[in-house]
Amino acid sequence: MVIPALIEHKRDGGALTPEQWSGLIRAYAAGQIPDYQMSALLMAIYFRGLEPGELAALTDAMIESGDRLRFNGYPRPVVDKHSTGGVGDKVSLLLAPMVASCGVAVPMMSGRGLGHTGGTLDKLESIPGFRTNLTLAEARAQIDRLGCAMLGQTPEIAPADKRLYALRDVTATVESIPLISASIMSKKLAEGLNGLVLDVKTGSGAFLTDLSKSVELARTMIALGETRGCPTVALLTAMDRPLGRACGNALEMEEAIEGLRGRGPMDLLEVTYALGAEMLVLVGAAPNLGEARGRLEESVVSGRALETFARVVEAQGGNPAVIEDPGALPQAQAVEVFRAPRTGVVAAVEPRRIGRAIVELGGGRMAVEDAVDPTVGFVIAVKPGDTVRAGEPIASIFARDEAGIALGTAALREAVTIGETGRLTPLISHRITSRGVEALAEGS
Ligand code: URA
Repeated sequence: MVIPALIEHKRDGGALTPEQWSGLIRAYAAGQIPDYQMSALLMAIYFRGLEPGELAALTDAMIESGDRLRFNGYPRPVVDKHSTGGVGDKVSLLLAPMVASCGVAVPMMSGRGLGHTGGTLDKLESIPGFRTNLTLAEARAQIDRLGCAMLGQTPEIAPADKRLYALRDVTATVESIPLISASIMSKKLAEGLNGLVLDVKTGSGAFLTDLSKSVELARTMIALGETRGCPTVALLTAMDRPLGRACGNALEMEEAIEGLRGRGPMDLLEVTYALGAEMLVLVGAAPNLGEARGRLEESVVSGRALETFARVVEAQGGNPAVIEDPGALPQAQAVEVFRAPRTGVVAAVEPRRIGRAIVELGGGRMAVEDAVDPTVGFVIAVKPGDTVRAGEPIASIFARDEAGIALGTAALREAVTIGETGRLTPLISHRITSRGVEALAEGS
């Protein structure tokens, strides 16, 4: 293979053959293609895109670069959910135990915080002792026992994606629909699923802020899943404000545990139930969305979902005391109330600004190897459209010290704007399947 010729062909708008894609990924995974050549190819893809056949070949090659979870002949259906990333998005923490306690196997393989968005693994690791680096064999044994494991991308799963993703992160090639699709779907398809539900975030805090791009991303991933024997459905959910109230790893874990008791913020529970219902219906564990939702609610009311989560925490080495006592989670050294600077209507709670502030406070990463501080973040009680009075407490800031409080206060002043009017956009705006796009809310 003459790599510069392949890069040149892609750069000039040509398409590579499936054999060329599989050869490229095999050689890259084997260390035979240097990062500088792969970076050039990624940038060519960023500008030129991929034809459907190229995307399929790239995704398959990324799956084939590693091993898979295998559930052939498994007594329970196997399903997972993936979010494209947001701020305050702790849905996976509730969803995995809820769905597992409805008799479905959930190999919840998640990621770390990326850019301004939080990551499920970082949230789980806020529980003292919790281990997310399970091997495939450990994950499989735990799923057999508890119906659920919550883990990171193991070295066996799509290792080519792991390298490519790290390279994209530092070469400004993340925000590409074909590259995001191949990256997410190669990992998910290697989980041996009977169904996949995608939570595609849209709005100013999402990676792809534009609605039409979010729809395109969803449709691209659905086509990849469906043509590889994995029924796939997507919901488009709002990320123009944080989801729920808590933003920051341990704070979100506390809110998720409250949610598993049915006491979480309404928007968080609504998105969780909607995605969970899709998961159950997709794999035939419930006949329709209404009944599926009833079962999920029952798993919460009966305490089964929380009990499943407690067993997962214990199995993965975490301190189960956090379930009954939020004080067992790491606590911030400095806490301060933030008050509404004026009377009016909340016009915006800008998630990107909040997410960036969490990173600045130490709760996210500037570099891959950075440790995160689980204690820092915000609890924001208001949403766009809420009326507030000057001086009313509307948020809390959690930081390491007074400098962090000052930084958090400045971030909230920018992120929360109060004016004369404000409007909450629909929380779940579209449902997308291989059959098409359905608007779920008026005006969507
Ligand atoms: N998450 C992934 O796993 N990959 C991407 O490219 C973007 C988000």
